Amino acid sequence: MVHAIIGAQWGDEGKGKIVDLLSQKSDCVVRFHGGNNAGHTIVNSLGTFPLHLIPSGIFNTKAKVYISNGVVIDIGILLEEIKMLKDVLPDFSKRLFISPRCHVIMPYHKILDGLYEEAKGKIKTGTTGRGIGPVHADKVSYNGIRLFDLMDPKRFRERLSIILPLKNKIIVALGGKPLSLDEVYQDQLKKFRKIRVFVKDTFTPLLQASSSNKRILAEGAQGMFLDNDWGTYPFVTASSILPGNINIGAGIPISYIKKITGVTKAYITRVGAGPFPTELAGDDGENLRKIGHEFGATTGRPRRCGWLDLELLRFSASINGFTDLAITKLDVLDSFKTIKLCLGYTYKGRKISYVECDAFMLSQVKPVLKEVKGWNRSTSQIKKYKDLPKEAKKYLAEIERHIGIPISIISVGPERNQTIIC
Ligand code: GDP
Ligand code: IMO
Ligand code: MG
Repeated sequence: MVHAIIGAQWGDEGKGKIVDLLSQKSDCVVRFHGGNNAGHTIVNSLGTFPLHLIPSGIFNTKAKVYISNGVVIDIGILLEEIKMLKDVLPDFSKRLFISPRCHVIMPYHKILDGLYEEAKGKIKTGTTGRGIGPVHADKVSYNGIRLFDLMDPKRFRERLSIILPLKNKIIVALGGKPLSLDEVYQDQLKKFRKIRVFVKDTFTPLLQASSSNKRILAEGAQGMFLDNDWGTYPFVTASSILPGNINIGAGIPISYIKKITGVTKAYITRVGAGPFPTELAGDDGENLRKIGHEFGATTGRPRRCGWLDLELLRFSASINGFTDLAITKLDVLDSFKTIKLCLGYTYKGRKISYVECDAFMLSQVKPVLKEVKGWNRSTSQIKKYKDLPKEAKKYLAEIERHIGIPISIISVGPERNQTIIC
């Protein structure tokens, strides 16, 4: 059976922690989309690990981990991650498999990402600067370079010698410095040789595992409202976040997906630009950021913080077909006297839903907020639902009632055991 773990907000919901937890009972974990724009933090007895490409199930020493075709890879970042893990998990390399169909983030993608952002000025997206938009643009316009190409140095050189001059023209036009063909070629090939051993077909083992009742976790990256089609376009990422993309990005037929858990914080955050109806500018926002350590795992940027938006969560649950919710960072609300929940929006005085809005309209909506009483007690050591303060239970019940699906996991701290299974 395939169990999908999907970010229900704007990313950084704590997917890494939830995948690490659930992977204890999994045979395989697969990253099926996105790239090293993701930063999934695992906190355990070995330390704190912000993983950008390697699936968060790597700490379960029995699980095989796959980076499938839908993922875009910066080989340099992957090498750094492998090095970091080798120190603490000496045998992990036997469990890592990378699809040769993965597209490679080339140095020019990163340069172009920065130059486009600079050129867009005040309408910039606030990307992670990792080359994600440009590598996907090349993928869909047939100008990409895949690991397959790097397996054949002659073919790689041939492709690069046509593509790189095109990129250099754009780089120069935007005021950047052109790249040398020889340098890019040698550098990528040298790095590729160090990961060559992991590059293998991932489709066949994943299909076999799905059809033989093995337990597979599909680890989503980013979050619903960064989805290229259904998110707050153009303030989105380049890939699709929805579970349907597990089929495209990993080759696993949709019929094998039996459970889809939406991960949401007990409040909401966003990094980068774009509309944010429940964003808090004052003390409450600052407190959420401070208590929740809301700084990006990839870029270190401060995350924008706001009250939990049930209008967004409802949409997320319906389009993703969530079977259940994992609520993270409940503990961050422990010291709040009152907490607010957004029940819906109004726009020019009338009720409006998320799906009716484009990014501009969403920036103009007014959230309809309901105030609830806080619990003013620490929850971070609580292991059972029954031991939660009654106000916290009420808060969670209100979320369940509005979304119409059960909460299966409540996270009350970054560590694996700071979790309540409902
Ligand atoms: P991801 O991208 O969805 O995997 O989330 P990130 O790792 O980028 O951000 C989540 C942050 O919150 C990480 O620093 C986690 O260690 C931390 N975290 C996860 N769950 C909890 C929780 O329940 N409570 C607290 N206080 N921190 C948490
Ligand atoms: P995880 O997997 C939060 C955001 C960027 C920017 C937009 C586009 O850790 O939840 P990109 O570099 O993808 O072209 O940037 O998407 N973004 C994320 N925000 N968590 C992420 O990943 C993100 N990945 C991209 O901040 O607004
Ligand atoms: Mg993250």
